[in-house]
Amino acid sequence: MGELLRFFRFLYDQRRPLPIPTTSDDVSSKVFMVVGSNAGIGLEASVFLARQKPKLLVATSRDSTKCKTTREAILERTDSGDGEGSAMETWPLEMSSFDSVRAIADRLAVREDNQLNVLVANAGVLLDAFDNTQDGWELTLQVNYLSTALLSLLLLPYLVKSSTAGSPSRLVIMSSVAHYNGTKSLKKAKTWDRILETINVLNGTAYRNC
Ligand SMILES: NC(=O)c1ccc[n+]([C@@H]2O[C@H](COP(=O)([O-])OP(=O)(O)OC[C@H]3O[C@@H](n4cnc5c(N)ncnc54)[C@H](OP(=O)(O)O)[C@@H]3O)[C@@H](O)[C@H]2O)c1
Repeated sequence: MGELLRFFRFLYDQRRPLPIPTTSDDVSSKVFMVVGSNAGIGLEASVFLARQKPKLLVATSRDSTKCKTTREAILERTDSGDGEGSAMETWPLEMSSFDSVRAIADRLAVREDNQLNVLVANAGVLLDAFDNTQDGWELTLQVNYLSTALLSLLLLPYLVKSSTAGSPSRLVIMSSVAHYNGTKSLKKAKTWDRILETINVLNGTAYRNC
C-alpha cells in the first residue's frame, strides 16, 4: 500500500467507532494480564475486562504507587465496590528493566494454577529524546520491543498450557501505524552485522544514513 494511501487510511480509522463487543462471552474461568494498565488504552481494556468478571485480571503498572491508584481507578468504574473479593490483582512491572520483566514471569510461575489465557502487551512509549536503560539499551527499543518480546516469550508456556481447542489463548501485542515510518530507515538493515546493536547505538537520523 502506498504511503499516502496508508496516511488517509489512518485518518479514516480515527473516526471509526471502537469495536467494543456488545455481547460478552463467559470469562469466569479465564485469567487476563494487561501490561501498562494505569492509563490510556491499557486502563480502558482493564476496565472492560474487569466488568466481564474474569477468574482473575492481573493489571500491571510501573510501581506499587501506580498499582494502588490503578486498582482504585478500575474498581471505581466496575461493580466491584470496595474491591472485597474482587478478582483483580495489580502487579508492578517496569518494562525498562529486564529484571522486572523476569520477576513477573517468576510471580506467575509460583502461582498454584500457573494459568494465563490472555496477555495484552500494551505498554509503550513515544519519546522525543535518546535515553539509555540500566540494561544498556535505548529506552524505546527496550520498552516497546525487547521487553515486550521477552515478556511474551517468558509467558508463552503459560498461555500454551492454558489453551484449549475450544478456547485458545491469546497474545495481543499493541503496535502502531508509526512502524511504517521505519521501513525506509531500515532498508539496508539486512546488510548490517548486528541490527539491534546498530539501532541502539545510532539513534535518530544517524542510523538512517548507514
Ligand atoms: N493512542 C494511540 O493513538 C496509539 C497509536 C498507536 C499505537 N499505540 C500503542 O498503544 C499502546 C498504548 O498506548 P496509549 O495511547 O494508551 O498510551 P499511554 O496512554 O501513554 O499509555 C501507555 C502505557 O504504557 C505504560 N508504560 C510506558 N512506559 C512503561 C515502562 N517503562 N514500564 C511499564 N509501563 C510503561 C504507561 O505507564 P506510565 O503511565 O507509568 O508511563 C501506560 O500505562 C502503546 O504501546 C502505544 O505505542 C497507541
